[in-house]
Amino acid sequence: MDLPLKKTFMPEKKPIIIANWKMKLGIGESKKLALELKHGIFGKKEVVICPAFVSLVEVAQILKNNHLKLGAQDCFWEVEGAFTGEVSARHLAEIGCQYVILGHSERRQHLGETDEMVHQKVRMALSVGLTPIICVGETFEQRQEGAKDYILIQQTTKALQGAVVKQNQKVIIAYEPVWVIGSGQAVSPAEASGAHQVIWQTLFDFFPSELVKNNFSVIYGGSVDSENVSKFTGLDNCAGVLVGSASLVAKEFIEIVKNS
Ligand code: 13P
Repeated sequence: MDLPLKKTFMPEKKPIIIANWKMKLGIGESKKLALELKHGIFGKKEVVICPAFVSLVEVAQILKNNHLKLGAQDCFWEVEGAFTGEVSARHLAEIGCQYVILGHSERRQHLGETDEMVHQKVRMALSVGLTPIICVGETFEQRQEGAKDYILIQQTTKALQGAVVKQNQKVIIAYEPVWVIGSGQAVSPAEASGAHQVIWQTLFDFFPSELVKNNFSVIYGGSVDSENVSKFTGLDNCAGVLVGSASLVAKEFIEIVKNS
């Protein structure tokens, strides 16, 4: 099958730029950064800010009625109940979140998050109207073993197989090679493009092609900065970027959005 080309495939989609603040900023720092971004980012791009849970409500107030969107970094797979310490996707939607990052490699690595858990969370996010940002990517060892494509297919399939994506719902898949996260050294655009093709092909295998074309986006994450961002957003099969470290400094993130 012909692989998607941006010109014909994603003509009306705006670049998606997502900031993942991880567990790096307190409430005061988050409010300050949100204000700086609110006053420094304009234009038509889809910019999503994902603060830590404790800062979400405050940042939601700052971004209210703004073109910057709010996302969470995780949610639980049950909508509510006796699940001490977990966070409900419905409650996230209630405070103004429109997106949620799921299956980030740091959760898979440090919290034992499995493909099955990611799948349950994707279903929950979709059921309350959140756009899931599903992270997939190989570790350095998996890459060395030649298992990269297998991992991408496996993680994408398991996250989505059997999920119901309605006509008005969006799904974002973020290719994040685990071994370049936080390293300051992104993969080459050609390498990202190859991985994206594998992900697109997997999506076409599971969902009707019109749905994939209209409702799915594939983005790149891993040591993105203002210097390299355009190389990724310029790819035919890349709809945007997921940014960690470089999203924590207002000037740099504003520059990333500009250059994307
Ligand atoms: P860095 O941009 O710091 O490599 O982090 C990427 C990431 O994990 C975003 O989710």
